[in-house]
Amino acid sequence: MLADLKKLKDEALTAINAAADVLNLEELENRFLGRKSGEITNLMKGLKELAVDAKREAGAVANEVKTAVAEALATKRNELAGVSQSEALSAEKLDITQSYLPPVEQGHYHPSTLVQTDLEDLFLSMGFVVLDGPELESDYYNFTAVNVPPEHPARDMQDTFYIKNHSGWVMRTHTSPVQVRAMQKYGAPLRGIVPGKCFRNEATDARHEHTLYQLEGIVVDKNINFSHLKGVLEAMARHLYGANTQVRLRPKFYPFVEPGVNGEVTCFLCAGQGCRVCKKSGWLEILGAGMIHPNVLREGGIDPKIYSGFAFGCGLDRLTMLKYGIDEIRVLKAGDLRFVNQF
Ligand code: DAH
Repeated sequence: MLADLKKLKDEALTAINAAADVLNLEELENRFLGRKSGEITNLMKGLKELAVDAKREAGAVANEVKTAVAEALATKRNELAGVSQSEALSAEKLDITQSYLPPVEQGHYHPSTLVQTDLEDLFLSMGFVVLDGPELESDYYNFTAVNVPPEHPARDMQDTFYIKNHSGWVMRTHTSPVQVRAMQKYGAPLRGIVPGKCFRNEATDARHEHTLYQLEGIVVDKNINFSHLKGVLEAMARHLYGANTQVRLRPKFYPFVEPGVNGEVTCFLCAGQGCRVCKKSGWLEILGAGMIHPNVLREGGIDPKIYSGFAFGCGLDRLTMLKYGIDEIRVLKAGDLRFVNQF
């Protein structure tokens, strides 16, 4: 067996060395190493019949022969392809000192977007739809339709940007006009929220911006009353600021509601004890709300004798500032990466 193996090896190496082309090499590979009937393979089948010691010795030699033939085939193949062995090896070389590609940087949401989508999820779970409306709004929807007719003093509460040569159009000052748009489009019953961008002619400071985000809510159905409003506002406040958050509603005039209230939540920082953030009152104002004024329902095509509803509007930026303890509204839109990359 050993002699046969040696003979076969010599024969194979000579033949491989003399091979004229790649096809020829392939034939030789089959002839000697072929898995079914290659000559080396066949010889190795005879190993079974040998005694244990002889089998071990012959097995080792057979493997050596196999490796030598395989190497000779590879060398010859490179030679025929015009590549020297060292070239072939260096082409295969793996440079383990090369630094890996830096990971692609992933984007992330702005804190206001985080709060907005969080609230959208909450309200969707309570059966609300998420509504949208135009930022360039007609004077009619922005003011008149929500019970602020031309010349009404309440117009002074919200000065905005007007469009040159397009009287009758304004940059919307709040998301409330979408209340009437939604009533006209969907009728009653209706449950919706409107997150969106609004504009005010403001002298900006740490708490006021000319461009701001609001979140409006509207519910219209039969027998809707003030306790429904309070329940929904509490659900929202506790979702945002924790289960122990209290909601306080105090009368306030808004033209589109009657009665109207301003809504405050217990200060998250001092838990109502009174601190710098809540100006020692223990309460933080976050929204305006009330029962929808019959004039507004009528403007939306809904009969106030059959239906009632509530609405609320809050500054989304303000909710975001409170949630993350941000004390300056202008950083939200300044585009400073040192700020936004913290979220
Ligand atoms: N639109 C009001 C504002 O921008 C906020 C508001 C108050 C909305 C009371 C409402 C509401 O829906 O009922 O100041």
